[in-house]
Amino acid sequence: MVTAEFNPFTPGALADPYPMYRELLAHNPVSWNSVMETWIFTRYADVDAILTHPAMSADRRSGSNRFAEMQRKQIEEQPNSPFNRAPTMLTTDPPEHTRLRGLVSKAFTPRAVENLRPRIQNIVDGLLADVADKGEMDLVQALGYPLPVIVIAELLGVPTEDRGKFKKWSDEIVATLGGPFTPPEVLQAAASSINELTAYLSEVIDDRRKNPRDDLISGLVAAEDEGNVLSTEEIYTTLVLLLVAGNETTTHLIDNGMLALLKNPEQVQLLRDDPSLIKSAVEELLRFTGPVQGTGRVLTEDVEIGGQAMKARETAFVILGAANHDPAKWGDDAHKLDVTRNPIDHVGLGDGIHFCLGAPLARAEAQIAISTMLERFPKLKLAVDEPEWGGTFIIRGVKSLPLTF
Ligand code: HEM
Repeated sequence: MVTAEFNPFTPGALADPYPMYRELLAHNPVSWNSVMETWIFTRYADVDAILTHPAMSADRRSGSNRFAEMQRKQIEEQPNSPFNRAPTMLTTDPPEHTRLRGLVSKAFTPRAVENLRPRIQNIVDGLLADVADKGEMDLVQALGYPLPVIVIAELLGVPTEDRGKFKKWSDEIVATLGGPFTPPEVLQAAASSINELTAYLSEVIDDRRKNPRDDLISGLVAAEDEGNVLSTEEIYTTLVLLLVAGNETTTHLIDNGMLALLKNPEQVQLLRDDPSLIKSAVEELLRFTGPVQGTGRVLTEDVEIGGQAMKARETAFVILGAANHDPAKWGDDAHKLDVTRNPIDHVGLGDGIHFCLGAPLARAEAQIAISTMLERFPKLKLAVDEPEWGGTFIIRGVKSLPLTF
């Protein structure tokens, strides 16, 4: 028998990577991948152990493989490229991580996001009103794509009229998350997007220094003024991170989630019969078809996990999508969508100190978007058997989702 192997580049792997994950979980749960030069982990217990382990660094550039070396070289060659000027919370360890995350975390607490719910509902209603009398829509264009960018733009305090620009910049930056396998033209587009976005933000930041408002950018500027807790470079990279991290991911949660639901009409019926299931349903969608499929860490010392001994500076890549379908954790029906499951400890939003900062916001947007769609359109149906999939093997999502109603 051929041993199961992690190869996200085979045809069909983007549309449905779960059969490959099942094979890995059953026959090769921990493996060495010679193309990515990393250990690959699939079991829930191992993935969670890595995400919460103190010897697992988020500074991917500190690794010993050639991809980490390429990243170090890129910093030397392009020291002024915005993400190279200052690291973000996503790639730092304590104490830097604690400081960077602490400054923005207040804006994303469940309570702060609770206050945003009426506004999110208002935006969803407005976007759906634009298509309501047409009888058909592409969910990606109508709702999944515009909603997160409008919300984050308002929260940061940048004009929503500029959302088209933000979306383009953030999509082009996220497209590089295929890592070392990203084509040069995609890298080029991302580099110019980062530069344009930084130039744009520098004007907004200057304005907030002179005219502070009640928004996140003013808050960050004030933190800088009050004793250099945050450098100007860090304000930029934090803002770019917030714009980028929450856009495509939330779009995909809404679109992939609605696709999974419409393929399982009995689950839609359960939700229609009991709308209070929406919170559990969104957690189940994050487990069942979460947009973020994997992330990586670098070992700061020799560690053994899941029976695998690893050396300091080696890399561990954890497949969140596989862990979320591990029968050892979720039972024999792990591969089934069940909106009543309420799988609160799924790893679709990560775990440990890097657990998604925007989780309350992503959850609120998806809950409101999906429940409003079901309430408003009783005859909602897929207009295609299988939509076209895009994104990368790390951030996975449909390109369009034609629906009739
Ligand atoms: C459904 C939507 C989303 C998903 C699936 C998602 C997923 C994730 C995951 C898996 C991580 C951990 C990465 C790692 O450990 O390496 C993460 C971190 C992060 N997410 Fe999200 N995210 C979503 C939405 C958002 C939103 C809306 C925002 C902000 C507006 C956001 C901001 C962040 C930030 C800043 C981090 C880094 C946290 C840290 O390193 O301490 N995300 N996200």
